[in-house]
Amino acid sequence: MSEPGSTGSLVVSGEELAAITDRLGREITEDHPEGIVLVGLLKGSVCLAADLVRSIEVSCSIDFLCLTPYGAGGQRVHLSKDLDVDVTGKDVVLAVDIVDRGLTVSYVHRLLTERGARSVDVCALLDRRVKRLLPVELRYVGRTIGEEYVVGYGLDLDERFRNLPDLRVIDPQQMKHAPPASVELLFER
Ligand code: IMP
Ligand code: MG
Repeated sequence: MSEPGSTGSLVVSGEELAAITDRLGREITEDHPEGIVLVGLLKGSVCLAADLVRSIEVSCSIDFLCLTPYGAGGQRVHLSKDLDVDVTGKDVVLAVDIVDRGLTVSYVHRLLTERGARSVDVCALLDRRVKRLLPVELRYVGRTIGEEYVVGYGLDLDERFRNLPDLRVIDPQQMKHAPPASVELLFER
């Protein structure tokens, strides 16, 4: 059994994630009787969007955006997958895995607003307020977390661990040098 906060320790269980997405779906349903477009921000929101869409009980279309970092240190992003749906005049709920510095959400919020969405509400599974650089309004929040880096339920470290069914702490420095097989053993299923 690992200490809370150490590598591999559980942050949010699969059962808790199900309860969180049920609650978020209910809140979105109550606030949007006229229906929404649910926009998932890939790839981290893939599990969140899939669970949310099944707990939303108003008219709901779903689409995805993907931002890919490029340039030195991945400081810039480009849109590597754009929306197919026209959001003009629509009420959009943007589903994101985690809001950290707030840069990603600010960028996408502005993009959707410039495209003529009537409203854009952010639904964040995780809110890491301690790292915020840009102020962002989060209408729906699953859980607030501290500085620990987390993986699972869609969240990755260098494209790994998105397939874990729950959220766990990881030490990115420690993982860089660990062989893949030993790393998977850290995560009991
Ligand atoms: P922001 O632009 O700094 O708010 O970064 C948000 C993005 O960084 C998220 O959508 C994630 O893709 C990634 N990210 C930030 N913190 C974590 C983490 O703890 N685990 C996995 N991905 C993270
Ligand atoms: Mg990532």
